[in-house]
Amino acid sequence: MGRKILLAHDHVPGIQSYEVYRKHGGYNSVEKAIKTMTPEAVVEEVKKSGLRGRGGAGFPTGMKWSFLAKPEGVPRYLVCNADESEPGTFKDRYLMSRIPHTLVEGMITSSYALGVNAAYIYIRGEYFYIVSILEKAIEEAYANGWLGKNILGSGYHLDLYVHVGAGAYICGEETALLESLEGKRGNPRIKPPFPAIAGLYGCPTVVNNVETLAAVSFIVNEGGDEYAKIGIGKSAGTKLISASGHINKPGVYEIEMGISVEDFINSEEYCGGMLNGKKLKAVVAGGSSVPILPADKILHLANGEKRLMSYESLADGGFGGGTMLGSGGFIVMDEDTSIVENLFTFARFYHHESCGQCSPCREGTAWMEKILHKMIDGHATLSDIDLLWEIQAKIEGNTICPLGDAAAWPVASAIRHFRSEFEEYVNNPKSVKKVIRMAL
Ligand SMILES: Cc1cc2nc3c(=O)[nH]c(=O)nc-3n(C[C@H](O)[C@H](O)[C@H](O)COP(=O)(O)O)c2cc1C
Repeated sequence: MGRKILLAHDHVPGIQSYEVYRKHGGYNSVEKAIKTMTPEAVVEEVKKSGLRGRGGAGFPTGMKWSFLAKPEGVPRYLVCNADESEPGTFKDRYLMSRIPHTLVEGMITSSYALGVNAAYIYIRGEYFYIVSILEKAIEEAYANGWLGKNILGSGYHLDLYVHVGAGAYICGEETALLESLEGKRGNPRIKPPFPAIAGLYGCPTVVNNVETLAAVSFIVNEGGDEYAKIGIGKSAGTKLISASGHINKPGVYEIEMGISVEDFINSEEYCGGMLNGKKLKAVVAGGSSVPILPADKILHLANGEKRLMSYESLADGGFGGGTMLGSGGFIVMDEDTSIVENLFTFARFYHHESCGQCSPCREGTAWMEKILHKMIDGHATLSDIDLLWEIQAKIEGNTICPLGDAAAWPVASAIRHFRSEFEEYVNNPKSVKKVIRMAL
């Protein structure tokens, strides 16, 4: 059994409630931090832990925290990114709905470390049923003295609010999220300035993912060094993986970073093997935004070593032969899956979700969807494959936020690894009609 940190008490009946959560060590990290540590010492432990942001980019959390500007007399904010709209990713939903206090606790400890007196959970609109779960947990935390004025008699005070978005993928991008939180249209901002300097209401702000903030409690309780011992190399700790597609046991799993991709798919503890004993064709390892990896590049690296579930191993081979751990949205496709049809589903999503601010993304995502639609309908020509390639190349790196890259990478990797499948859709459209769409 792999080590469990975030889901250690997932099996405990009633863990959603304050009493049960507290009985199992809940809020100990707040007590320890506030009573025995300076805010700087907490930041130091997070730095030592090697924790990296779990929202997708994997930026070192301690480093991000140390960038937070601290001008005299200006408030600072902590914002939890609970937008979770990336196709294939549903781990924050799982954590918040099953163990809501773990996020509340992590946010209090993190806010203390950052000198923040007002913190926000920005949650996607479709998660309305989790809003009441979180609000109940927050109410219980206030009632038990973990939130509000003079927490544990320390003089430190914190207010925590839940803000519900309207259900837009772009509002997961941190600066679009801040715009939306301020009541404006969720368009990404040009960076710099980064939120650590000018974030919410122009004030220094840290934006972190749900899973990132939840991991802080363990780091404070056990120490950064203990956390750093778990995992592999620069991929410290555990990671929640949302596993879906053609596997026997779709679900959310907490893995120790460093287990092999093969073991993750085949082990009874996790995915339980391929559905119906089919062969593996490809994996989307980190949510729909990352390059698709074909089976021959999933099981082994070019040097014959095993491909591991870690930031470094999944990225090995660059965009030509590797991918990204991203948000841990792990979508498994079997031998009957049509890459072209699934790409169309992704392209439709990115076109729909593009905020329209940057022309390459606004126009490019629309054209990619159109061409893929044409291909599935059997009306495409071979030059359309090259056109698709050209369009994605013109989006990548040419937009304010990485939504453009997220739309381009799956297309580039699909053409790179599965070009013959695109050609088949052009040359022999009738034979590829009966394809199975990926089950998310
Ligand atoms: C289009 C887009 C959508 C994103 N959606 C999310 C999201 O739903 N949740 C999230 O935590 N990060 C999301 N991110 C990443 C955030 O911009 C940001 O990097 C993250 O919240 C930082 O937290 P972390 O350092 O804890 O990972 C998204 C980025 C982009 C470009």
